Amino acid sequence: MPQLGLNIDHVATLREARYRNWKRGLPPEPSVLEAAHLAEQGGARSITVHLREDRRHIQPADVRGLSHTIQVPLNLEMAATTVMVRQALLFKPDEVCLVPENRQEVTTEGGLDAVTDARRLKAVIARLAAAKIGASAFIDADLSQVDAAHRAGACAVELHTGNYANATAAAARHRELARHARAAAHANDLGLRVNAGHGLHYTNVREYIEDVPHLHTLNIGHAIISRAVYVGLRQAVAEMVVLLGSHKQIHNVD
Ligand code: PXP
Repeated sequence: MPQLGLNIDHVATLREARYRNWKRGLPPEPSVLEAAHLAEQGGARSITVHLREDRRHIQPADVRGLSHTIQVPLNLEMAATTVMVRQALLFKPDEVCLVPENRQEVTTEGGLDAVTDARRLKAVIARLAAAKIGASAFIDADLSQVDAAHRAGACAVELHTGNYANATAAAARHRELARHARAAAHANDLGLRVNAGHGLHYTNVREYIEDVPHLHTLNIGHAIISRAVYVGLRQAVAEMVVLLGSHKQIHNVD
């Protein structure tokens, strides 16, 4: 049963819609720290934030605040650049997820090309490892990408589920599921932890976890933050945790 990692970028998106360049007055809302706290109460087992180079939602102060206050692991998504490595070394998240970044995109559009970018990734992952920060590589579900992430020294892969989530025809969805199942099994054989995310929703997540083995964490953001508008964040998180089946583990621990 995979765990839920909640991506709270869009809590910051809402805040930035009103409080960009905030200097004084009422504390900016909604608060990402409060959101992370509610997510923990709802059963999220990690919190993810993407510190984008254009700072469109999460700000460095958010990462600093989260790294001091949350109880569950903090997963920092970032581009594999020297500037961002410096930020990671400053904030010391529990894990970094390396993603491709393009300023024009609305959201991350695909996985890294770990084959072409092998040297840069290896250097970045080694610098993070020296500071005891594990790195996961966000990649498409291709065996060559899994191999390249492994060679670069990643401790985990995050399989990009966007194509699965966007496939409307059943045949295309099943092709994607088979591809992900093969990539997950291969990553697991190599000793890599297997995470997945992007576009996962209350409506498609069960099928994914039934078909894809070895999943450790599913990183989900937009669907849960959207549902939170109607039912509150703690409940929106708890509903996803129930769908993943990992609420049983929480009960066992209690
Ligand atoms: N994983 C990665 C690497 C992402 O870039 C994102 C989007 O920020 C997510 C997971 C979460 O995607 P979504 O918001 O579609 O659930």
